[in-house]
Amino acid sequence: MVKSIGIRKLKTAIFISGNGSNMKNLIRFSKTKNSPIVVDFVLSNNKKANGIIHLKKTKINFKIFNFKQRNNDEKKILDILEERKIHLICLAGFMKILSKNFIKKFNGKILNIHPSLLPKYKGLNTHERVILNNEKFSGCTVHIVNERLDSGKIILQKKVKISKKDNSETLSKKILKQEHLLYPKALRKMLSKI
Ligand code: GRF
Repeated sequence: MVKSIGIRKLKTAIFISGNGSNMKNLIRFSKTKNSPIVVDFVLSNNKKANGIIHLKKTKINFKIFNFKQRNNDEKKILDILEERKIHLICLAGFMKILSKNFIKKFNGKILNIHPSLLPKYKGLNTHERVILNNEKFSGCTVHIVNERLDSGKIILQKKVKISKKDNSETLSKKILKQEHLLYPKALRKMLSKI
């Protein structure tokens, strides 16, 4: 933990694979006065992730592990996390599946954001499936990561209305905006209890 202006901030790592808009948003959030987290480390499995371009402009430590040899990579990652005294991991558009062993080591301390109203539409291509099924609502969910995909305890959800004009792209943009509000709120909610 890091003590900052009277409140203790939890040392947090963010795992990304792509654009990193949720990552950027969490970094911004971590710098606000009463934020319960400080972003100390970012991991990307993709060296071409857009999020990396942003990170290079910051002082935040980051590393690339491509997960081609997942067990080896996870061992090295766990060492880094231990060395840096990371207490919380936020998955933010991270497209790799973490092993049961890894999840056990961080039991209850890995969060994920998923662009649907879980338990509906777990997995990939969420918005496409939602539109195909003519759903009236979709949304986003922040949940604790357990050993089953997109199935851990839900911390918070936000419902989003789908208009007749929406396609998967417009819906994804609408939901992403809500994700940026939801992730910080969920962190506050979860961390106010510990
Ligand atoms: C988000 O919609 C997130 O819910 C999903 O992947 C997308 C990542 O977006 N898991 P970004 O990389 O944070 O911009």
